[in-house]
Amino acid sequence: MSFELVRGTRDILPDEARRWQRIEAAFRAIADRYNYREIRFPVIEYTDLFARGIGETTDVVGKQMFTFPDQKGRSLTLRPEGTASAARAYLNAGLHVNDPFQKWYYLGPMFRYEKPQKGRYRQFHQYGVEVFGSLEPTVDAEVIGLAWSLMTELGLGGLRLKLNSIGCAADRARFQNVLREHFASSISSMCRDCQRRHQENPLRILDCKEAGCQPFIEEAPGSADNLCEDCAEHFSTVREHLDRLDLSYEIDPRLVRGLDYYTRTVFELISDELGAQDSLLGGGRYDGLVETLGGPSTPGIGFAGGTDRLAIVLEERENTPGEKTDLDLYLAALGDDGRSLALQLADALRRRGVAVDLDHRDRGLRKQLTEANRLGARYLLVLGDDEVASGRGNLKDMTIGEEDGVELTVEALVARLRTDCGGHDKEG
Ligand code: HAM
Repeated sequence: MSFELVRGTRDILPDEARRWQRIEAAFRAIADRYNYREIRFPVIEYTDLFARGIGETTDVVGKQMFTFPDQKGRSLTLRPEGTASAARAYLNAGLHVNDPFQKWYYLGPMFRYEKPQKGRYRQFHQYGVEVFGSLEPTVDAEVIGLAWSLMTELGLGGLRLKLNSIGCAADRARFQNVLREHFASSISSMCRDCQRRHQENPLRILDCKEAGCQPFIEEAPGSADNLCEDCAEHFSTVREHLDRLDLSYEIDPRLVRGLDYYTRTVFELISDELGAQDSLLGGGRYDGLVETLGGPSTPGIGFAGGTDRLAIVLEERENTPGEKTDLDLYLAALGDDGRSLALQLADALRRRGVAVDLDHRDRGLRKQLTEANRLGARYLLVLGDDEVASGRGNLKDMTIGEEDGVELTVEALVARLRTDCGGHDKEG
C-alpha cells in the first residue's frame, strides 16, 4: 500500500527546507528593518470573506477555492491569499478605531485549485506585507522598495518591476466601460471566459492567459491613460519616489492583477529565470477593501510573493543539491564508553549553544569522518578508549586540517569553540 500526495501539494524535504529557511529569515530581517510587524491569521475563513473581498467574478473565487461545509453546514474556505484575512483581522481587532496605521508582514501556506505545474501548486506559500491607513505615495514606494530589497538580499538579478495604476473606484468603473466598448467588436473571437468577463467584469479580460486572446488584449487601452486628476497625480508621485530610490520599473499599461480589490498602484516583480510562471511577487493598493468588508474607508497597500517560486530561482542559481549545515562540532565515537561520553558532551555543549552532532548508527571511524565532512562540521573530535581514559582529546579544525590537544570538559571545549566559531555563537 502507498499513500500519494494530494495533487498540487509537495513535501519540502530538509535539503530544500534550508533554502526556505534562508528566504524566510531574509524576509523577516528585512521586514524588521522596515519596521513591519508579524501578523498570523487562520488558514480557514468563512467563504464570504474571500467572495466579497477578492470578488465573485475573479478566477480565484470563481474557480480556485478549496471550499467545503463544516459540520453545521457553514461554508468554509482554505485561504487562497492573505490580504482579505489581514483586512478582516484589522477590523476585528478594532484597529481602524484605535490605531489605524499598521505595517504588517506574514508568511504561510495558501491554497488554490489550479492546474499544477512547475512553480504553480495547489498548496503554495506566500511571504507578504500589508500596510493599512495611509494614502501617501511614500508608502507605495516603501512597499515596492521592501520587495526589491528582499531580492537584493538574496542575491537575485534578472528582475523586472512592472508598474501600473488602475485608479480609484470611479476610474475603474469608467475604464470597465472603455474596455467593454473596446472589446465589443472582437469578443466573439475570444475565449469563453473572456466572453463571460466581457459581461461581468471586462477588466479581468486583461489578465486572460489564452494565446488566442493576446492579440486583442495587446491592443486594449491602458488604465493609466484613463485616470482622474487625483489618481494621475498619485501615480506620478509614486514614480518620482521610485526614481529617487533608484528602483527602475517598466510601465505596463495592461497590468491589472487578478484580484478585484486593487485600486491605484499595482505592480509585479518578474524573474527572467522562472519561465512560464514568471511572476515572483505581486501587489498593489486596495483603498476600498476595508470598506467592502464593512469597515470605514481605509486605504491599504501590500504585496505577496511565492516562496516556492523564489526557492526554485535560488536553487537554479546555486546549482547545489544540498546545503552545508552550521555544525560547529562532530563527535566521532568508538566503543561503548566513547559513545556514552560523546552523548554527554554533545548534550552539555548543545545547552551552551554549540551545534553538535554524533553518530547514532554504530559506524566505524572512517564512515564517521566522512559524515563529519559531508555535514561541513567546523571541528572534529574523536572519542575512543584512550580519550575516555586520559580525559584529553585532539580537536581538529576541519578548515585547515590542523589538530590541537584539548581537555575533555565542557568549559574547555566551549572556550575553544567560542574563540574559533565566533560566527556560530548562538548564545551571544
Ligand atoms: P497573487 O498575485 O495572487 O497576489 O499572488 C502573489 C504571488 O503568489 C504570485 O506572484 C506568485 O509568486 C505566488 N502564487 C500565486 N499563486 C500561486 C500558485 N498556485 N503556486 C505558487 N505560487 C503562487 C496575492 O495573493 C495578493 N494577496 C498580493 C497582495 C498583497 N496584494 C496586496 N497585498
